[in-house]
Amino acid sequence: MSAPNKSYDPVEVEALKPEEIERMRDEAVAAIAAATDLEALREVKVAHTGDRSPLALANREIGALPPHAKADAGKRVGQARGAVNKALKARQEELEAERDARVLVEEAVDVTLPYDRRPAGARHPMTSFADRIADVFAALGYRVAEGPEVETEWFNFDALNFPPDHPAREMQDTFFVERDGVADSGVVLRTHTSPVQIRSLIGQEPPVYVICPGRVYRTDELDATHTPVFTQVELLAVDEGLTMADLKGTLDHMVQALFGEGMRTRLRPNFFPFTEPSAEMDMVCYVCRGESVGNPDRPCRTCSSEGWIELGGCGMVNPRVLTACGVDPEKYSGFAFGFGIERMLMFRHDIEDMRDIVEGDVRFTLPFGMEI
Ligand code: PHE
Repeated sequence: MSAPNKSYDPVEVEALKPEEIERMRDEAVAAIAAATDLEALREVKVAHTGDRSPLALANREIGALPPHAKADAGKRVGQARGAVNKALKARQEELEAERDARVLVEEAVDVTLPYDRRPAGARHPMTSFADRIADVFAALGYRVAEGPEVETEWFNFDALNFPPDHPAREMQDTFFVERDGVADSGVVLRTHTSPVQIRSLIGQEPPVYVICPGRVYRTDELDATHTPVFTQVELLAVDEGLTMADLKGTLDHMVQALFGEGMRTRLRPNFFPFTEPSAEMDMVCYVCRGESVGNPDRPCRTCSSEGWIELGGCGMVNPRVLTACGVDPEKYSGFAFGFGIERMLMFRHDIEDMRDIVEGDVRFTLPFGMEI
């Protein structure tokens, strides 16, 4: 800073020359106009009105002028600073208004939009189908019974009259549960839901009418038509005077309820340790209704033109099973049937690969929608 000096001429002090002050003012005003947002304007403000800004520095020079020059220089610097402050204020208001307008648009909430755009989801078709089957029987007075998936061999095999050397007990069919390092622990993953029927019979004096849906396990490889974990529905009715005619009538009712009017079933002799007599049950192909049989012009993919679709097994409860459960076979008789419902779902919905059902991909589940 220069020292007071009598012969000091403000025109000669570089920073206080009128055109220099004008230049500083114009530069500041131009910078203010060029600031495109509030942040940039804050920087311009510091640069042009702050303590180290050219006009502030010029202002300080005034003190060094002789008294006669002070007023003139002070006036010019003051006017320049006033003009800058005015421009700053105007630009500030302009940019704030722009920001407010932009925020209103960018952060607008359209209160008329539906508030919940998340997909409603869908139950897995296996769950809906198992429920639907259970409903058919609930309407006939059956109770839905459930049991453990990890089961003792006694419930899974012995009580059902499987001889100790029955091949189904062997490793290739049954998952045995190892306990304390012992592989042959007497505990298995249930291979069917028949043990639930045993539990129902043991726990209750007939009449017993139960339907047992649930997951079962067998040592099958996962491929297009097999899965090591699948879902079975088994039914058991034990009462006085039940015959095979009741079994047949119940099966026909079920396929009509699930697949439509006019559906029927047929029985083919078979063997199960827990039923006697035992049968394999088929239902009329619900796609061709048997019309593809002997009709090469109208082949049916669903039943391979056989007219029938195999559903599962059935029969009259073996008296030995009743005895094992403490039920008097002289007084009571019963019928039972069981089938895997993945297969049923496959032909009901033309699903070609069983893996689609078990893999849990929502893209498979969603088209089935939400059954209420
Ligand atoms: N439990 C048999 C199975 O899993 C099915 C069945 C049930 C057969 C009831 C007859 C009677 O293969």
